[in-house]
Amino acid sequence: MCGIVGYVGKKPVVDILLDGLEQLEYRGYDSSGIAIKTATSIDVYKAEGKLANLRDVLRPNADKITQSTMGIGHIRWATHGAPTVLNAHPHTCNCGNLVVVHNGIIENYKELRSELEAEGCTFRSQTDTETVSHLVASIYAEVKDLTKAVQIATKKIEGAYALCIMHNNEPEKLVVTKRNAPLLIGVGEGEFFVASDVPAIIKHTKKAIYLTDNQVATLTPNSLKIENEKEEEIEPKVEVLPWEPVALSKMGYKHFMLKEIHEQPDVIRNILVGKLHTSNSPIVLNEVKLNKETLKNLNRIQVIACGTSLHAAMIGKYIIENFCEIPVDVEASSEYIYRKTVTDEHTLVIGVSQSGETADTLTAIKQSKARGSHILIITNRPDSAMAREADSLVPVSAGIEVSVAATKSYIAQLTSFYLLALYMAEIKGTMAQSDLTNLKAEMLLLPQKIEQILAHKEEIQTCARKYANTRDFIYIARGINYPTALEGALKLKEISYINATGYPAGELKHGPIAMLDETMPVLSVLMKGSVYEKILSNSEEAKARNARMIALTNSTDAKLDDLFDFIIRVPEVTELLSPIVAMIPLQLIAYYIAEFLGKDVDQPRNLAKSVTVE
Ligand code: M6R
Repeated sequence: MCGIVGYVGKKPVVDILLDGLEQLEYRGYDSSGIAIKTATSIDVYKAEGKLANLRDVLRPNADKITQSTMGIGHIRWATHGAPTVLNAHPHTCNCGNLVVVHNGIIENYKELRSELEAEGCTFRSQTDTETVSHLVASIYAEVKDLTKAVQIATKKIEGAYALCIMHNNEPEKLVVTKRNAPLLIGVGEGEFFVASDVPAIIKHTKKAIYLTDNQVATLTPNSLKIENEKEEEIEPKVEVLPWEPVALSKMGYKHFMLKEIHEQPDVIRNILVGKLHTSNSPIVLNEVKLNKETLKNLNRIQVIACGTSLHAAMIGKYIIENFCEIPVDVEASSEYIYRKTVTDEHTLVIGVSQSGETADTLTAIKQSKARGSHILIITNRPDSAMAREADSLVPVSAGIEVSVAATKSYIAQLTSFYLLALYMAEIKGTMAQSDLTNLKAEMLLLPQKIEQILAHKEEIQTCARKYANTRDFIYIARGINYPTALEGALKLKEISYINATGYPAGELKHGPIAMLDETMPVLSVLMKGSVYEKILSNSEEAKARNARMIALTNSTDAKLDDLFDFIIRVPEVTELLSPIVAMIPLQLIAYYIAEFLGKDVDQPRNLAKSVTVE
C-alpha cells in the first residue's frame, strides 16, 4: 500500500529511485513521483498511473538531474484523493523547500489541515500527506533543524506512517521515521537507502536496519543517527538480509500470474522437502514451538487473515478440527480488531498472510499477543513484521509472487496448514496411524496431480472463453470446498471485474437462486466425498432454473453429462486434500477470462499486493 524509497550517497540517484520503485510497484500503481536535490533546489516530478509514465516525464529532464545524489520517491495506492498528478507524492510545503513521501494514513489530517490553513498554508491536494509537509515545514521555520522538526511534528500526528523527508537547506540529509508501517534503511559504503521493502534495496546492499515505531533516523552519506521517542540516541541494529537479488522474469509466460500458476507443483515439492520425507515419517516443523503440554493447555484456536489468506484459513479450520479435535474460529482481521475479542494464554492465534505486512492482520496479532496468546504465523515472508511478532513460524516458501492476484502463495498456505494440522495431530495422538500414513502418501503425490491438470489447460481455456462474456458468475460448493468457491470467485472478480460470488451450495435456495436464469453461469465444485450427492442435488435445482451449468469434478459419473453444459475433470484425490487440486482450474478460468477480455492481469485496477493500511 504505497511504497517509499530514498537515497543519500555519492551515486546518481535517479536510477536508484526508479529501480527501487519498480520493485515496489506491487504496493500500488495509481501514480508515482520522485524529488531530487539539485545544487540549488529540490525538483519534483510526478505522473499518473504506472511507473512507465514517470519515466516518460523524466526523459526530457535527464540532463538536469543525472548528477544528483540525493532524492526520495513514491509509488501510490490512493487512499485520500483521486489518483491524479496533483495528489501524487512527493508533497511539498508552500515554499517548495521541503518534500515528503508517505505510506500510511494520517487520521487527524482534517484537524491539522484546518490549523495549518489558519496559519496561512495553501493546500493543493486532497491527500492526508500534504498536512505532513506543511506541518514539518512550519515547525522547521522555527527550529531550523529537520530532525527536530520531524520529532515535534510526529508527536502531533495520529495514524500510521512511514515518512522520508528532505529539506533544501539541509543538502545531504534525509530524515525518516515510522509508526505502524514498514520501513527499512539499507546500509552501504558512504551511502544509505530507504525503502518500504527489501526488494527495493537488495541489489545495492544486504545490510539493513529495521526501524521500529516512533524512532527517527537522520541519514547523511557518512553518518546515521537513530533516536527513540524520548530523543535518546540508540545503537543501530544492523541485520544481514537473508535475500539474494532476483531478476524477476516471466520466463516466456504472457503474465506473471500464469507463470506462478505453473510453479505450483514445485512450490509444493519445495515445502515438503525437509518437512515430510515419506508417508511413514513424522512431520518436521522446526520453527513451531508447540509441544504436548502447550497443546494440552489450549482450549481453542483463532485464525485471522484477509482476502485469499482468509480463504486458506477457512480450509485450515476444517482440517485442524478434523485432524486435531480443537475448536477453531476464523475471522477477517479487519473485523477481529474492532470488537471485544476473547483470547488468552489458552488460545493459539494463527495469523496467515502472504506478505506478512497486512495492517489489519498485524494489528490483530499484536492485540492477541498482548493478551498472552501463543502467536503462530504462516507467511511467505519470514522477514516480515508479522514474522517478527511470532512465537512459532511456518514459512510457506512460495518464492516471490509478483502477480497481485495470489495463486501459488494460496496453494503454499494450504500445504502449510496440512503440515501444521498433521504435526499437531501427531503430538496430540488424535489421528489413527493408518489415516496419517494415507494422507501423507497422498500429499506427496499432489505435485504430479497438479501437473496433470496443467497439461490439459487448453480445455480450461475453452471453458473460460465460452463464459467470458458474462456479467455475473456464481460458484457453489459445500464442506471443505466452500472456501474454494469463495477463492475461485475472488480470483475472477479481482482480475476480470466480473461480479462473481461463492456460495455454500445449500444456501442457494435461501435467496441467491432468485438470480438464476439462462444468462447465469453456475460452477459447482463437485468433488467426491461426504457432500457429493448434496451438491449434485443443489446443481439440479440450479439447472431447473435454466442456469448455465459447469462442473469441476473428479467424478466420472455419466449422469453429470446431462446435468452440466461443461465439465472440467481433475485427477482422483481424497476429499480432505481436494481443495488443493480443485483450486488450479479455478485459477486458470479466472486467468483465461481476464486475458481474453484484455484486462491488466498482473496489476488489476484499484488493487495492491500488500495492504498496509487498516
Ligand atoms: O499479504 P496477505 O496475504 O496478508 O494479503 C491479504 C489480501 O490482501 C490478499 O490475499 C488479496 O486478497 C489478494 N489480492 C488476493 O489475490
